[in-house]
Amino acid sequence: MADRSTPSEKTSSAQIMPRHVAIIMDGNGRWAAERGLPRALGHRSGVEAVRRTVQAASDLSIPYLTLYSFSSENWSRPQDEIDDLMGLMKRFIRRDLAELHQNNVRVMVIGERENVEPEMMALIDEACELTRDNTRLTLVIAFNYGARGEITRAARRLAEEVAGGRLAPAEITSERLSLALDTCGIPDPDVLIRTSGECRLSNFLLWQCAYTEFVFLDAYWPDFGRELLVEAIAQYTARERRFGGLPCRSTA
Ligand code: IPE
Ligand code: IPE
Ligand code: MG
Repeated sequence: MADRSTPSEKTSSAQIMPRHVAIIMDGNGRWAAERGLPRALGHRSGVEAVRRTVQAASDLSIPYLTLYSFSSENWSRPQDEIDDLMGLMKRFIRRDLAELHQNNVRVMVIGERENVEPEMMALIDEACELTRDNTRLTLVIAFNYGARGEITRAARRLAEEVAGGRLAPAEITSERLSLALDTCGIPDPDVLIRTSGECRLSNFLLWQCAYTEFVFLDAYWPDFGRELLVEAIAQYTARERRFGGLPCRSTA
C-alpha cells in the first residue's frame, strides 16, 4: 500500500534521509552541444549517469528512486533521436538487468503502455517480473510517462467502475484515486531533483508531488552522480516540511 501518513505525523520531525527520490534527468542535449558532440552522445553519457545514480541510491539505502526517462511529449522529437532513446533503453535493460537483479534492485515501470513497440514492452515486462521480489532499492522508470495522461487514465478507470455499479461516486476519495494511478503502492516522492537549470515539472508526477521538496541543479544530467545526489539530499534534509501545518518551533 502507498504511504499515507497523515500530515501531522510528518510535520514535527526533522528531515531524515528521503524515502523516495525522483529525478528529471535533463540536459543531455546541451551537455553534448557544449562539447560539439551529437545529441545522441549526450544521451549515451546520460546512461552512465543513470548507472552511477542507481548505485549511489542503493549505497545510501534510499528505498525508492524514480527516473524520468521518456515523456509522453518526447514523441514530438525528431525520429532519429527517438530511435536513439529507444535503443538506449533497450540496451540498458539487456545489459544491466542481470546486475540490477544481483544487486537486489526491483524494477518498476510507470507510463502509458500503448504506442510502445512490443519488443520494448516485452523487455520491460521481463525486467519487472524478474526483479519483482527484490527489496534493496525500487527503481521506478517513468517511460512514455505523462502525469496528465496518468491521471486521466485513473479517472477513466474509476468512471468505468461507477458505470458498472461497482463503485459509488462518494467512494472516490483522494486515496482511491491514488490507488488508481500508475504509482499505486509507491510512496510520494520526498524530494524531486531536476538537472540542467530548468525549473519546471514537464508533466512529471503532478499528483504525487503535492508536498514534495524541489531541488533544481544547474549541472547537466551526464555530469550527475553520487556527489550531486548527496548535495541534493543535503539541501532536502536542511528544509522544514510543513504539510500545511505550522513550523515545529510554533507547535512546541
Ligand atoms: C534529457 O535530456 C533526456 C530526455 C528528455 C529524454 P534532453 O534531451 O532533454 O537534453 P536538453 O534539455 O535538450 O539539453
Ligand atoms: C523532461 O525533459 C522529460 C525527461 C527528462 C524524460 P524535457 O527536456 O522533455 O522537458 P522540456 O521539454 O524542456 O520541458
Ligand atoms: Mg530537456
